[in-house]
Amino acid sequence: MMNLGVVVALLGLVACSSCKPVVHNFTLPLCDSPEAEAAAQVALDFINAQHTHGYKYTLNQIEDIKVINKVDGTHTYLLELEFLETKCHVYDPKPVPQCDIRAKIETAVEADCDVALSEAGGQFSVVAFKCKTELETVGLCAGCAFLQPLNDTDGNQLVQDSLVHFNKNHTLNAAFALLDIGRLSSQVVGIRPRLRAEYAIIETNCTTVDNDICVPLDPVVARHGFCHAESHGLDLQVDCEIFPPDNATLPAPPAGPGSPSTTHGFKHHKLTSLHDPDATGLLSAESESAEKAPIVKRTVVDPQPNGVLGAEPVALLPRCPGKIKHF
Ligand SMILES: *[C@@H]1O[C@H](CO)[C@@H](O)[C@H](O)[C@H]1NC(C)=O
Ligand SMILES: *[C@@H]1O[C@H](CO)[C@@H](O)[C@H](O)[C@H]1NC(C)=O
Ligand SMILES: *[C@@H]1O[C@H](CO)[C@@H](O)[C@H](O)[C@H]1NC(C)=O
Ligand SMILES: *[C@@H]1O[C@H](CO)[C@@H](O)[C@H](O)[C@H]1NC(C)=O
Ligand SMILES: *[C@@H]1O[C@H](CO)[C@@H](O)[C@H](O)[C@H]1NC(C)=O
Repeated sequence: MMNLGVVVALLGLVACSSCKPVVHNFTLPLCDSPEAEAAAQVALDFINAQHTHGYKYTLNQIEDIKVINKVDGTHTYLLELEFLETKCHVYDPKPVPQCDIRAKIETAVEADCDVALSEAGGQFSVVAFKCKTELETVGLCAGCAFLQPLNDTDGNQLVQDSLVHFNKNHTLNAAFALLDIGRLSSQVVGIRPRLRAEYAIIETNCTTVDNDICVPLDPVVARHGFCHAESHGLDLQVDCEIFPPDNATLPAPPAGPGSPSTTHGFKHHKLTSLHDPDATGLLSAESESAEKAPIVKRTVVDPQPNGVLGAEPVALLPRCPGKIKHF
């Protein structure tokens, strides 16, 4: 399974003939190899499943990979990955490959994650990860839309007003409640700002005519939805997509009214920054050793000397990083 174009680096060669050789077994697969892709996919799915606010992420690039071969035949994969925010909210049942990616001009969000996975018999499981989420800075521009903090007063007002509007004007026979604000932005158009909001909603136990306390239904049976709202002066528009109930893989419902991003005044939702249940130390060890790892050329087969059988010169691409999938 793992016999790919790998290089076993033998460090610390025999120091004396009576001593056992000190062998540090690790392999450095290509960042674009199928095994790197497979490990990155498991890491992405796992990290997305931990993320209960904001949007799903997609893989943009495998920046580095190192595989530690353990004596028992299992492996530890250490990956450096770059993810990009998609436009699918975490409650959107669409699989990640069907989700659009937030363009740079819309202030893209990027996350760099170091992930440690264990592999046995071709099965990967995430041991620990560490992520840093950042807004892609865009050049200042007059008339551009700028992200606002998720607790912005005007933005939150737009969310409330547009949800009331939506609940008065659909035929779904249920009132929906706010679940999670994804983004708020403001753009100067004429003399007034045009505000935009994106937010997730959840079905409650009220119908649209009930005047009662409305409580969100159990997320397993509730319909979820995602709304785009816009206001400019007195003009208010809202458009909500309602997803069918999906009992498959919903993340745990957000705890309490405010996500960490909302309560800390951030403009975007951050991925879990550290997940290291056993405090493995693998993540910090990784970045150091990755820098020291020998540079290995991308050689799937040994390149033949030029001229042999008229072989073309083999372009030795760097082993890593892998190709950029989006931007
Ligand atoms: C290193 O790899 C060799 C060959 O696969 C194996 O015999 C040896 O036990 C490994 N050593 C360690 C420390 O994992
Ligand atoms: C419902 O939506 C339609 C189309 O957007 C709009 O014309 C109508 O005024 C809305 N009705 C109410 C009660 O908001
Ligand atoms: C919804 O549930 C809450 C709490 O159980 C209850 O107080 C309320 O009356 C319910 N609303 C309706 C319309 O049934
Ligand atoms: C939810 O689960 C039920 C019973 O397991 C199944 O019949 C139904 O198709 C599922 N719905 C969705 C949307 O997957
Ligand atoms: C948003 O949150 C930040 C940090 O908690 C706080 O300083 C700021 O006053 C809040 N803004 C509003 C409008 O609540």
